[in-house]
Amino acid sequence: MTIDTAELLAIARDAARHTGGFLLHERPADLGVAATKSSPTDVVTEMDTAAEKLIIERIRAHRPHDGFLGEEGDASEGTSGVRWVIDPIDGTVNYLYDLPGWCVSIAAETAEGTLLGVVEVPVVGETFHAVRDGGAFRNGKPIHCRPAVPSARALVATGFGYTVERRTRQAEAIAALLPRVRDLRRAGSAAIDLCSVAAGRVDAYYERGLNPWDVAAGALIAREAGADVVVDLWPEADGSTMCVAAPAALRAELQTALAALHA
Ligand code: IPD
Repeated sequence: MTIDTAELLAIARDAARHTGGFLLHERPADLGVAATKSSPTDVVTEMDTAAEKLIIERIRAHRPHDGFLGEEGDASEGTSGVRWVIDPIDGTVNYLYDLPGWCVSIAAETAEGTLLGVVEVPVVGETFHAVRDGGAFRNGKPIHCRPAVPSARALVATGFGYTVERRTRQAEAIAALLPRVRDLRRAGSAAIDLCSVAAGRVDAYYERGLNPWDVAAGALIAREAGADVVVDLWPEADGSTMCVAAPAALRAELQTALAALHA
């Protein structure tokens, strides 16, 4: 079946912008936690669920035969060869606290991998997008990751999982890494972290335990901006893997350091 990439990109951008506006303008002042997932700190708000529904309805109106994989539980096989991978709010804890670092992340996949990705950051009015082999863009303008620097001069973004066991190990790795890099950043959204690599706002990003919806769009955007992105390093029994994103030489150096730290 022929896939019209321009049509899919337009649909993704429309769904991301519309849902971003909804989340920005309709956020209840008394927003609370509706449910928890892997741990008491892994939260879902009523807005995550509403936003996922909105995105899927909006895409399905144009593409009734596509499949979906959404953070809040939507999973359906389609028949068209296209599957949408959706994080309605990446950075839910930021959204809960009314901090600006949250986004809507939408990717479309085919049998060959991720075809396109859109990351909408409503509070700051930024839309990142990429199409496979077509470059990466912020608000329509091309973006590129920074040239590689030695890790001692790298500003490195990372994130933490939600379980006590994972956080304990992550804290140990951070304690060893911090003295060896320029500095660390924990912004609170994996998709935005990957876009920050793409836009040259940080040198590198790594995190263990991401889900497909956290990385699908952002990893393509970072790759298309020139970064090396590995998402499936060192799988563990719980299915978690390590993601490392940076320009090639720094990615290799950081990966070696993280391996030595059993990060
Ligand atoms: C989380 C964010 C966070 C990362 C977590 C993710 P959510 O996604 O991306 O930065 O550290 O690993 O689960 O729960 O806000 O969609």
